[in-house]
Amino acid sequence: MSINSDFPNDSNKLENILIIGNGGRENALAWAIQKNELIKRIFVLPGNAGSKKINKTERLILNLSDIRELIKKLNFLNIDLIVIGPETPLAAGLGDVLRENNFNVFGPGADGAKLESSKSWAKEFMKSANIPTANFWKVKSFEEAKKIILNSSKPLVVKADGLASGKGVFIPDSIEKTIEATEEIFKGKFGNAGEIVVLEEKIEGPEVSVFALCDGEKYVLLPSAQDHKRLDENDKGPNTGGMGAYSPTPLISKNNLERITKEIVNPTIDALLRKNIDYRGVLYFGLMITKSGPKVIEYNCRFGDPECQTIMPLMDNNFVVLLQKCSLGNLIGNEIIEMSDKFSGCVIATSKGYPNDYEIGFPINFGNIDYEDCQIFDSGTSLNSEGKLVTNGGRVLSIVCQGKDFDKVFEKAYKNLKEINFAGINYRKDIGHQVRKNTLNNRSY
Ligand code: AMP
Ligand code: GLY
Repeated sequence: MSINSDFPNDSNKLENILIIGNGGRENALAWAIQKNELIKRIFVLPGNAGSKKINKTERLILNLSDIRELIKKLNFLNIDLIVIGPETPLAAGLGDVLRENNFNVFGPGADGAKLESSKSWAKEFMKSANIPTANFWKVKSFEEAKKIILNSSKPLVVKADGLASGKGVFIPDSIEKTIEATEEIFKGKFGNAGEIVVLEEKIEGPEVSVFALCDGEKYVLLPSAQDHKRLDENDKGPNTGGMGAYSPTPLISKNNLERITKEIVNPTIDALLRKNIDYRGVLYFGLMITKSGPKVIEYNCRFGDPECQTIMPLMDNNFVVLLQKCSLGNLIGNEIIEMSDKFSGCVIATSKGYPNDYEIGFPINFGNIDYEDCQIFDSGTSLNSEGKLVTNGGRVLSIVCQGKDFDKVFEKAYKNLKEINFAGINYRKDIGHQVRKNTLNNRSY
């Protein structure tokens, strides 16, 4: 990344960073941030067993809900910038509280996080700003939903309104299953998150993730990525948080990007401004490239996981300066992110049973890993009583590689994956199939 000549020198101190979150995304952010020579210490709260393997990085164990203690500790540690990773604390207003206490925060307040924490709010926001998205109905009772489903000539997607850890979206293949999914949500499957249901017209096309670093008024785009949401190869099986990703994606051609910017990104930023929402953080546009053009499937108020692990190795050491500028509201808006000329790909190794129930505590063993142009970010790990690395989540490790083409990227990722073992390890063998040659015929990994 090179910052163009309009990028002013920043006199603000940038030595001690706090990252909130405990996944692969937060470890990848720490890894990208430590590259800047200004940075002295990075704290990940709470992080996981992989956090302290990252240069300059340590874990901080504190109760996030004890705000007084938190503020006291952050003042003591002289924290210059706080990056909030996950949506739950953002939606709960942690960014607001920290800003009120004079910290520089990368992450929107609860008002901006509503773009993710209420799907009906986000759909109404898009409708009022004329942003292309699937037609929708916001419904408050099962009876109302049933009428709409029975009268619809097109297949519908069913969504719980609130945060449901990525599990609140159903894409049923029959009217009966659409009704069933709606009933389950109204019966309380997702608690309060399902008090409102959004029914959406089902649209089709490849999906891409676009990330804008925003300072409340201006923004810069990161390289785009394509996630693989389904559990099984050939994009089959249930939706997950993401089984792998690659970046940049050829789906975002120059023409497409111009259209996305004009029809989606700019109108979104303008609509936030009109609503007086001072959005300082990353705005994630989950898009579908349909036959009639790009449409927004969802907004997220945070970096995607595993997209973040995939994109971070492409950033140079000024990435953290951009985050700081967003937090201060002083982006120029035309900073040029000149990323590495390499391609990047990530494969997620998960626990048996994920995205449903899974067991934890299985020892993780590494063989002969080739770390050149390869990072292994812990997603869900801990140390057991003997100090051995064990599984501690559904998503366990993010294996990220870079190379001159996607074939090399994934060849290395899968070669390294063969050297990693834990009971029940599962991963998709076809991540990047959209950009690799012969992938689907080649099952030799
Ligand atoms: P969301 O959590 O809203 O991103 O939805 C999860 C996944 O469901 C998306 O990544 C899409 O694959 C799919 N999806 C969501 N909304 C629609 C829609 N209106 N039409 C087709 N697929 C959808
Ligand atoms: N990769 C999708 C998400 O983070 O929601």
